[in-house]
Amino acid sequence: MEGEYIPREHWGSRTAFIMAAGGSAIGLGNIWKFPYITGVYGGAAFVMWYLFSILMIGLPVMLIEYAIGRRTQRSPVGAFKALAPGTFYWLIGAMGVLAGFIILSYYSVIAGWTLAYIFKALFGGFAGFHSPEVARQAFEAYATHPIRPLLTHAVFMFLVILIVYQGVKKGIERWNSILMPLLAVIVIVLAVRGITLKGVEAHLSALNGLKFLFAPDFTKLTGNGMLVAMGHAFFTLSLGMGAMLTYGSYLSERENLIKSALWVIVMDTAFALLAGVAIFTTVFALGFQPGSGPGLIFNVLPAIFAVMPGGGIMGVLFFLLLSIAALTSAISLLEVVTAYFVEQRGWVRHRAAVVWGIAIFLLGVPPALSFGVLGNIKLLGMTLFDLFDYLSFKYMLPLGGLFMVLFTIIRWKPVSLLQELRKGGSALRISNGAALALLIVSALFVAITFIAGLFGKN
Ligand code: PHE
Repeated sequence: MEGEYIPREHWGSRTAFIMAAGGSAIGLGNIWKFPYITGVYGGAAFVMWYLFSILMIGLPVMLIEYAIGRRTQRSPVGAFKALAPGTFYWLIGAMGVLAGFIILSYYSVIAGWTLAYIFKALFGGFAGFHSPEVARQAFEAYATHPIRPLLTHAVFMFLVILIVYQGVKKGIERWNSILMPLLAVIVIVLAVRGITLKGVEAHLSALNGLKFLFAPDFTKLTGNGMLVAMGHAFFTLSLGMGAMLTYGSYLSERENLIKSALWVIVMDTAFALLAGVAIFTTVFALGFQPGSGPGLIFNVLPAIFAVMPGGGIMGVLFFLLLSIAALTSAISLLEVVTAYFVEQRGWVRHRAAVVWGIAIFLLGVPPALSFGVLGNIKLLGMTLFDLFDYLSFKYMLPLGGLFMVLFTIIRWKPVSLLQELRKGGSALRISNGAALALLIVSALFVAITFIAGLFGKN
């Protein structure tokens, strides 16, 4: 490997790493996207396909990211430079840094909305929401406002910068180990509350929510639904842009990468399912219609919290859940950008976190305003917000993942991957040839996700 040895911060323990990686994975994607796509594309049938996609796409890409990160002790750009000096593979890392900028800029806008809604819930702001329609109008007044969403976007970015500024151990590790257990408690409380809700009319029950979420319906699992699951595997596990690679680069050789990856995947999936249970039992018990994305979160649920017994506190908890989940994901995005400037450009961490955090805030201003005053600006038929979302979710993450798998097959070689995975006491019994075959199959799946995504409507 080229380059001099740079003393590097390391996670304090395996649990700390799993909390941080789990914190990155568990985010807005789990709470407002997964439950909905599960309900729409066939419940348990979709979940089964999703688990299969996680196995074929998520697990291999995650292992590759961890392994490259730990092997090189570098964040994406430096990692590819170290493993393939004198080539252009570092561009994979550069695309990841760029994706970090783009994703965080609009992610923080939504996270800002969730922050605002904690306070709305706290101060009884949902009281007048007699229907989702009333809630929708209030939400629109807020989201289209020329200043208010910018303020909450700024507050959220401030928190993200603050944590990344404090460094890997004192910032990222410390905050994740406080926030992740809290997150688990909140989602369990909400799910239990949802399941125990009585239907407000005789024909309504929380059970219908569980049916919506879990009853397998293979007729609903369309080709498009299958693609949605495969694309979601990247987003929900924070793969394809180097966040996991960067977190892996703070690992020592003692850790078992395979075990850690499985933990993160199980946590992420369990969390998504629990969030789905919490949301849909509540929606169905109270006789509302399940909507999707922002509509479900900011229109339907606030109207529910307005009428449901104990809705005040549940509303606060729910938006706290969203904000915390978003925060622990956002710090991994800013960390990718920060680590790049620290390692490759010789910046000090404090300055990198602040300067680029502010730059990301500024980049988020146009998409934040694209619900209101900048709503008329359309590129490729999309508002700026949709464009940012589309670009990163549909193109950058799957493409980044595809390049990482191909890099491992062509340049780094499966044997080096296996060598790295065998450290930390893992008795991985698999031949080089078999690993190669598995990687090729996985590359095919990732390629399908990317190419079909170019034409599909997911
Ligand atoms: N995994 C996060 C979520 O589910 C989003 C994310 C994507 C975070 C890519 C980091 C990198 O919300």
